[in-house]
Amino acid sequence: MEICRRPEDMARITTKALADSFIEQQVKEIRQQVGDKKVLLALSGGVDSSVVAALLIKAIGKQLVCVHVNHGLMRKDESENVIKVFREGLDANLIYVDATDRFLDLLAGVAEPEKKRKIIGAEFINVFADEARKLEGIDFLAQGTIYPDILESIKQAEGKKAVKSHHNVGGLPEDLNFELVEPIKLLFKDEVRVVGEALGLPHGMVYRQPFPGPGLGVRCLGAITRDRLHALREADAILRDEFDKCGLAEKVWQYFVVIPDIKSVGVKDESRYEGWPAIIRAINTTDAMSATIEEIPYAVLHKVTDRITHEVEGINRVLYDLTPKPIGTIEWE
Ligand code: XMP
Repeated sequence: MEICRRPEDMARITTKALADSFIEQQVKEIRQQVGDKKVLLALSGGVDSSVVAALLIKAIGKQLVCVHVNHGLMRKDESENVIKVFREGLDANLIYVDATDRFLDLLAGVAEPEKKRKIIGAEFINVFADEARKLEGIDFLAQGTIYPDILESIKQAEGKKAVKSHHNVGGLPEDLNFELVEPIKLLFKDEVRVVGEALGLPHGMVYRQPFPGPGLGVRCLGAITRDRLHALREADAILRDEFDKCGLAEKVWQYFVVIPDIKSVGVKDESRYEGWPAIIRAINTTDAMSATIEEIPYAVLHKVTDRITHEVEGINRVLYDLTPKPIGTIEWE
């Protein structure tokens, strides 16, 4: 990441017209910087990398090589959706890597949250670097750095300590020496979304809720097992589906399911049924530094509880987390 300051007189991008002129300017600058060379991008499907991908596709088409790494900790249908939008919709040059086994094997038995984050971050670099080495003639690396990332790095350089190591992606190994392309590095998140819509990306992708780099890995608490991860993915998909249906998805900043590594006794088909609890968290915030909980209507909670306990193997209770931040953090790990 290249540290730079946003000019004080830079207008906030709030309209399609402003976004269009930003896009036009960036397309020119990207073409100038890159020429006829190739650019590599790790495309997670998050807002920032998706907008960078769309911007680069507009500027240089197939000279952009996107690599989507599925670390096995994605939400339900997330990787499929990235492929659909970029490969089918935008005709992107997209390499899909299913690295589920590499990640889950390394994470087996690891319960400590920061250790899990470090393993996921480091393995992401390894997988991405392996793909990069297979490709030839790539000179540039595009990154979805946005201005808050730069501000965060400035803060850290000044010695302020973070509660969690959110910065997932470290530097690439030295043999992979790319020049950086960071077309949205001076934008705030709301501006990135306006640009994304102006580029024609689907609304759901541009306005999707934040999703941590380590993915479901920090929501499958403690040591991750495949069966509990599967239950988490299914339960989370049900919560998202119900939030979509009742309109809460448009309103709530972040909502998800967490599954702790404990079981309780329940009863199913008149027999003892031990299962995990699914914990629902739904919060609102402006900057993720503090957060309040969303008061989900009971009818929605009942529907979600009913569906999760009936449709997801291994879950026998649903709990609702009422904790603000602080004292809780938004994620449980
Ligand atoms: P916390 O849990 O610190 O979360 O209150 C604040 C926001 O950051 C997200 N988060 C992460 N994002 N890598 C990320 O990219 C991480 O390791 C990570 N941990 C938390 C969290 O989802 C929330 O939006």
